[in-house]
Amino acid sequence: VIPPRPTELAHRLLRDCIDEGVLAIDATAGNGHDTAFLAAAVGPRGRVLAFDIQAAAIDSARARVAALGLADRVEFHHACHTGMASHAAPASVAVVMFNLGYLPGDDHDRTTTTPATLQALAAAASLLRPGGVLSVLCYPGHPEGAIEAAAVAQDLEGLVASGWRVSRYETLGTRRPAPFWLLAAKPVQSSA
Ligand SMILES: C[S@@+](CC[C@H](N)C(=O)[O-])C[C@H]1O[C@@H](n2cnc3c(N)ncnc32)[C@H](O)[C@@H]1O
Repeated sequence: VIPPRPTELAHRLLRDCIDEGVLAIDATAGNGHDTAFLAAAVGPRGRVLAFDIQAAAIDSARARVAALGLADRVEFHHACHTGMASHAAPASVAVVMFNLGYLPGDDHDRTTTTPATLQALAAAASLLRPGGVLSVLCYPGHPEGAIEAAAVAQDLEGLVASGWRVSRYETLGTRRPAPFWLLAAKPVQSSA
């Protein structure tokens, strides 16, 4: 489909910039679509760390990855993504994906929250290796999501001053604010 939805665009673009054998993080595993995507992209020598605060999401993501025969590449953590820095070394990760909000059809109380998301983004930025990429899908179509999406966009834009390249992709002319995708690349020469 042209133009693609942000979720589809994220997979299409990221697929080409993830090398085999790297370490990747899915900060919001949910039903495991992104975890499975990352597990396929990193190849048999790569590794994926996947986080979610809902046991049901971890179970769902684990089942999806197992059905694809990729289980041995993924380490699941039933935990808040703010703790991701306890599971990887600084500057060791090639890509971190966030898909904010709540699971489709799920309890909206288990949505991502602005303070935890901003804290987890800071952790992700320090875990990324130079040249690594941060991918964040934002959903401003509901009031809380709009606040979170604006805060995240402002936060990532702030990285530009430290040499990061930050892009935003979204569909125009929708009835409600459309989901948008933020892609941030850490500078190749950086300690940020
Ligand atoms: C939009 S869904 C993710 C969809 C998923 N990437 C997929 O491919 O199916 C957002 C997920 O974030 C999880 N979540 C919310 N707050 C979290 C937190 N603080 N740490 C980790 N996961 C969280 C929710 O439980 C939910 O499963």
